[in-house]
Amino acid sequence: MRDTPTSTSRRSSRSASRRSSTTSRTSSTSSGSPIVWSWRCLRCITISKRLWTTSAAASRSACVGRIVRRSRPPLRRGRVVGRKSHPSGPSDHSPDHQRLLFSAPQHRRRVNHPADNIIGVSAAVKKIRAELECAARSDAKVLLTGESGVGKDIAARVIHQLSARSHMPFVAINCVSVPDSLLEAELFGHVRGSFTGAYRDRPGLFETAHKGTVFLDEVCEMSPRMQALLLRFLETGEIQRVGSDRAQSRIDVRVLAATNRDPEQLVADKIFRADLYYRLNVIDIRVPSLRARPEDVSLLFEHFLRGYASARGIAEPTVAPDVIAALVAFEWPGNIRQLKNVAERLIVRAQNSRISLADLPPEIAGRPRAAEAVAAPAERAPVEEIFDRMVKNRESFWSAVYPAFMTRDLTRDDLRFIIRRGLHETAGSYKMLVELLNMRPNDYKRFLNFLRKHECHVPFARFRSAELRRRAPQDDEFSGGALIDPTSSVLDRQLPASDDMRATGTGRR
Ligand SMILES: Nc1ncnc2c1ncn2[C@@H]1O[C@H](COP(=O)(O)OP(=O)(O)OP(=O)(O)O)[C@@H](O)[C@H]1O
Ligand SMILES: [Mg+2]
Repeated sequence: MRDTPTSTSRRSSRSASRRSSTTSRTSSTSSGSPIVWSWRCLRCITISKRLWTTSAAASRSACVGRIVRRSRPPLRRGRVVGRKSHPSGPSDHSPDHQRLLFSAPQHRRRVNHPADNIIGVSAAVKKIRAELECAARSDAKVLLTGESGVGKDIAARVIHQLSARSHMPFVAINCVSVPDSLLEAELFGHVRGSFTGAYRDRPGLFETAHKGTVFLDEVCEMSPRMQALLLRFLETGEIQRVGSDRAQSRIDVRVLAATNRDPEQLVADKIFRADLYYRLNVIDIRVPSLRARPEDVSLLFEHFLRGYASARGIAEPTVAPDVIAALVAFEWPGNIRQLKNVAERLIVRAQNSRISLADLPPEIAGRPRAAEAVAAPAERAPVEEIFDRMVKNRESFWSAVYPAFMTRDLTRDDLRFIIRRGLHETAGSYKMLVELLNMRPNDYKRFLNFLRKHECHVPFARFRSAELRRRAPQDDEFSGGALIDPTSSVLDRQLPASDDMRATGTGRR
């Protein structure tokens, strides 16, 4: 059939309208709502220590994944495949959807899944991840319990990021860091003139988090009055700003709470309201301590080392196997936070590209602390070995200790331990210590100067045995009982008073 002008113009107008609808759909997919949507993801308000900060970091990893996904939408035969093309596909915010970068099978892999922020391979961590994913599917309130520093905060964020509310605000408040007099206004807002300094109406956190998630950290520390106000809000969903005589509109927020105390015990002790406890404890997730998952220690430690090393722009150090063994064996009362601090300290002090047992804090390396050193010397195996080389194998201090100390294979604590151990053997005499550690008598001054320079001098008085102390007044060696530490600055002023000084030829005889 030949084209008439009318049919041609109808067809061209139809194709124009198809073009325009394609353009508008494409543009709305690639540059309209997705950008707005993506940036909304970055809006995560953290309130802690009385500060309100807008923090993108909290959910950055998950959001970046989504921006990448949106800015490079799946293509099929060169055309953008929008959500409408997958009516039965996963919804935008479902956990399944978040695991997909692109819909093409070759790209179907887990990228930046929020639960991956929970580092660990132990059965306990796998169970926690499953519990968090399960909790994220509903809107039920969650009470996270567990010791301090086990990762309750991270767990709360993961629930939010996995939930359908992930593109809405996540607002966290530490209930103990805000004074009770301010907490009500922080949570529920206030109206102008309600108290000194209230110059304008201000919404509270619950309003700010409308459609999103509120995380109440350390919830059990709330005063009875705040507990009553929170309970009323949880029951009615209504908030009343401080100074207002009527309730605001209903607020839709999901409430997550955490405590490192035993809530049941607090309820039994009548410190925490039972009705509030049951309101909050719809889903109870107990985050295990690090002691309960020793398999995760090395993974976490290396994860933190890598993070701190890259932040400082240095290569990640290697870790000696006995370091990992010591870390796994340690009890970790401060849990993951304490492990993280150890990793940071090692990176800050990093001298070598290899972390050895001597770099670990004594309590973690299994060495006794300074005060316990003499009482339990057997625990300090590597330094003990060096000590034995000098005492039993007659090796000199200058070859057994000095080079290792100068190359930092031995720490100051190690050196102090050797000195203490030696003074223990010589009943506090530095002169005999020089002999014990196979130095020439002439080395006495050099030895003391070396200890003083490196702040490794150890007061000798407490090593004097009771018998020697009793002998002291009669014994020349103790200079009339005046015990002077030859390594202290007193040395220079009171040389004649010390037995050890006699070795230099300056002592009183
Ligand atoms: N599984 C984990 N993977 C990686 N980092 C973790 C993990 N668990 C905890 N952390 C890190 O340990 C530190 C403490 O975690 P978090 O603040 O979540 O503990 P918490 O249980 O809330 O402690 P508190 O009871 O003192 O508030 C944080 O810096 C966090 O990044
Ligand atoms: Mg916390």
